[in-house]
Formats: sequence, structure tokens, C-alpha cells
Amino acid sequence: MSATARKTAPMPDDIRAIKGGTAIVSLTAYTTPMARMMDGVCDFALVGDSVGMVLHGMPSTLGVTMEMMIMHGQAVARGLTKTMLVIDMPFGSYEESPEQAFGNAARLMRETGAAAVKLEGGAHMADTIAFLVKRGVPVMAHIGLTPQSINTLGGYKVQGRDDQAEALKVDARAVTDAGAFSVVLEKVPAKLADDITAGIAIPTIGIGASAGCDGQILVVDDMLGLFTAFKPKFVKRYGTLGEDGKAAIRAYADEVRARSFPAPEHTFADKAPAK
Ligand code: KIV
Repeated sequence: MSATARKTAPMPDDIRAIKGGTAIVSLTAYTTPMARMMDGVCDFALVGDSVGMVLHGMPSTLGVTMEMMIMHGQAVARGLTKTMLVIDMPFGSYEESPEQAFGNAARLMRETGAAAVKLEGGAHMADTIAFLVKRGVPVMAHIGLTPQSINTLGGYKVQGRDDQAEALKVDARAVTDAGAFSVVLEKVPAKLADDITAGIAIPTIGIGASAGCDGQILVVDDMLGLFTAFKPKFVKRYGTLGEDGKAAIRAYADEVRARSFPAPEHTFADKAPAK
């Protein structure tokens, strides 16, 4: 069923069942107003750890904390009724052991109401994914470019080219076998994304991947043109909110300096108007 026809938010199993059907639509969200804009339009909203770079001006996602994720997760939850909430596990909150991952995943779900968590990693995270899923935590995996590993990946490079392709297929199969209900493929060649999509039983969610993925995700501030520090090749800007915002702020500043704002209709009389 498409997001627009739904009366309640889908569950992870509903997303899994869309495999091969209508494309899954998703965006990141970090605030209540943004969540309201996508509610009932997107199948799921991801409180991504990209929040650190997009809203907090951090140089990477590595400094994002559990507390930041919980605060933004709660804000997004307040704006969603028909769109599923997925929340990222931040760097350092799940890699140490399956037990550490469970404790933090349970906290994220309990304190935000998220239906699922997302974590970065393929075959090497399979045991952790299986541990979480067996204990009631639906997991969306994330492979390809995994921004929490930029220091070992050598930057934000395309992943899975040439002789790396097989390793990425192994990752996709490993997270599927571990019980993930879907997998994000970030910044991988289109043909490889298509091959992975055809080769696994769970939906692939592409970002910088292929239109043939089972679904797509973008960072909402990128696609609205609000985040303008840089634009990855895979981003399409559907709006110019950053430019529009700057123009509005300039117009406000001009009117304040010209003393034409506030105008009489924005001010209050001494006496209340007669009823
Ligand atoms: O943090 C994030 O925004 C993400 C998406 C881009 C997939 O992980």
C-alpha cells in the first residue's frame, strides 16, 4: 500500500513486504515541522546521524551522541502519524558488542518511539544484527559508503567498484541472512546496486545508487536546498529553501532598518477593539 493511502504508519514488516513493488519513499528528518511535511507522503522518515553535519555544523557524523539522536528522534516522532520512524545508531553506540548495541537500540526505541534502528556495516555487523532482531529490534542495515567509517574508507568515495563489488554483495547477503528488514546502499555503482537488489530478499534503499533500488532516501535539507555547504553528485535539489530563506531575511532586515516593519497591522492598540 502506498504511504498516501495509509491510515497508520507502516511497520518494518510492511516495508520488507514492499520488496519488488511500489518504490519505497523516504527522507531524513530531524525536527517536528519537517516530519509534519513528510507525514503520510514518505513510507519512513530516518532520524539520520547526518543531523550532526546538517543541523549542528559538525565536520562529520562521528561526534553525534545518543542524547542528540534521542532529542531529534522525539521531535520527529511528534510530527509523524502515518510514516514510520527509523533512527540511526550513532558512532560508538553499537560496534563494541551485541549487548552494547542492544542496550542502546532499546534506549533509542523506548525514548523516541522509533519502530526500528539503522546501523552501518555489512558482514562484520551480521552477528549484532541477528542478536538485535532476535530480541525484538528491527534493523535497517547500511552498506556501501558508511560515513561513520570515513577515516578508514579514506573519505566519501564511491564504494564497490571493480574488485570491491563482490565484497559488497557478500555484505548485502550477510545482513539479509542476519534478519535486517531492509538495507541502505550508499554511493555504489548503479549496476552493482541493481545486482544486489535482484540478489537479496529484502528491500534496498538507494542513496547515490540506482533508480532500480526498491526505494530511495535523501537528506531532506539537501533536497530542499537548505543545506548548501556542499552538494554530493547524487543529490537533486527539489527546492531552493536556502536561497528563499536568505532573501526573506534580507527583506526583513531592510524593512526593520527602514522602520516599515512592524506595520500598523502587526501592532496593538491601547484599548481592546469593541466587540
Ligand atoms: O544519516 C543519514 O542521513 C543517513 C542517510 C543518508 C541514509 O544515513
